Amino acid sequence: MGETIIPLADLRYAAPVPRVPAAAPAPNGLVADRLGRPLHDLRISVTDRCNFRCSYCMPKEVFDRDYKFLPQTSLLSFEEITRVARIFVAHGVAKLRLTGGEPLLRKHLEGLIEQLAALRTPAGEPLDITLTTNGSLLERKARALRDAGLKRVTVSLDALDDAIFRRMNDVDFPVADVLRGIDAAIAVGLAPVKVNMVVKRGTNEHEIVPLARFVRERYGRNVVLRFIEYMDVGATNGWRMDEVLPSDEVRALLAREFALERLEPNANGETAERWRYADGAGEVGFISSVTKAFCRDCNRARLSTEGKLFLCLFASRGHDLRALLRGQRPDGRPWSDDEIAAAIGLLWSERDDRYSELRSAGRAEAGSGERRIEMHYIGG
Ligand code: GTP
Ligand code: 5AD
Ligand code: SF4
Ligand code: SF4
Repeated sequence: MGETIIPLADLRYAAPVPRVPAAAPAPNGLVADRLGRPLHDLRISVTDRCNFRCSYCMPKEVFDRDYKFLPQTSLLSFEEITRVARIFVAHGVAKLRLTGGEPLLRKHLEGLIEQLAALRTPAGEPLDITLTTNGSLLERKARALRDAGLKRVTVSLDALDDAIFRRMNDVDFPVADVLRGIDAAIAVGLAPVKVNMVVKRGTNEHEIVPLARFVRERYGRNVVLRFIEYMDVGATNGWRMDEVLPSDEVRALLAREFALERLEPNANGETAERWRYADGAGEVGFISSVTKAFCRDCNRARLSTEGKLFLCLFASRGHDLRALLRGQRPDGRPWSDDEIAAAIGLLWSERDDRYSELRSAGRAEAGSGERRIEMHYIGG
């Protein structure tokens, strides 16, 4: 009999179709959530696939040959992504970050960047468009990305030592190729490049000082190295608090070698605390989502590859924007941009997420108990 098979991937996280309010003012760029936080930053995941298997994100045992990634038909097209981005920009978003999985695995990504680069804020300004990548394909793609309108790039790099790096990416990928990717990004003008190092106690803490020294000497102010506390995202990485190396300890390790000075934040809601080398050799950052939660100013929304909106990195439920993009009103007409904007405005105005803060206060596990989204699915 004609049984309908629903792909497993579509059932992964509950995502009700957002309610479209009957009447809503057009977006004025000033929407705020229940904690008064504006909507400033949209992170767009363009693929849930990755060619690395970092154990803290896509452990091999789980993401093996049998793992069902999202099917091609469920992905948002570039036109759909651009439409969603345009609606978010009307709500005040000024910064777009493309993530994955590994975003450079998405075919012809520069075509999407070109479309996004044509968008303007209500004040007529171009958007800040950036990308988080593992760097493996960056050497090949840096120029095309820049030509398409990419402004900056963030490269993940957890170790300088080739053996440790190969072990951490768990696909035996050499560190030299990533470094060539960073070189290429700087050469085409995507500087300063941010380099993100996730620090795991007992795994790569001995790489902190060597990587800092290397980056200072080789790149100076062209690279900002940021140390990220290992987080309890998702449900597959077997996170344990004793593997977190608090940023204060990372900074103390660095301070033994280099004199550091605190810098003022660049922008509201910034993830990283900024410091600079006193001798002028550049800047470093500390992202302390575990020991110093920054939910209070969190202005980030996340769009998954198949068009679900997540209002927190630790959410278990999304909101199915694709259903509005592809679906119809009860009268058979497609939903308009203003209607979709109103639905998003309503969702944001009801948002009260602050997972990391609650976790610090020991209250996070009081949540729904549902499985949380994974980093490879929603990006950083
Ligand atoms: P820049 O504007 O380039 O400084 O971007 P960013 O720091 O906002 O972005 P990036 O994607 O480089 O984020 C770095 C890391 O910070 C991510 O990999 C996450 O580990 C963490 N992070 C980013 N956003 C959030 C967030 O909203 N909540 C939590 N808990 N962690 C976050
Ligand atoms: N904790 C902290 N950062 C993480 N990332 C992925 N998983 C984790 C985790 N468990 C980071 C990656 C990359 C970005 C996409 O997210 O290192 O910089
Ligand atoms: Fe590693 Fe990033 Fe790939 Fe996750 S998405 S496995 S952190 S390279
Ligand atoms: Fe924002 Fe959620 Fe991260 Fe807090 S835990 S900073 S609310 S994404």
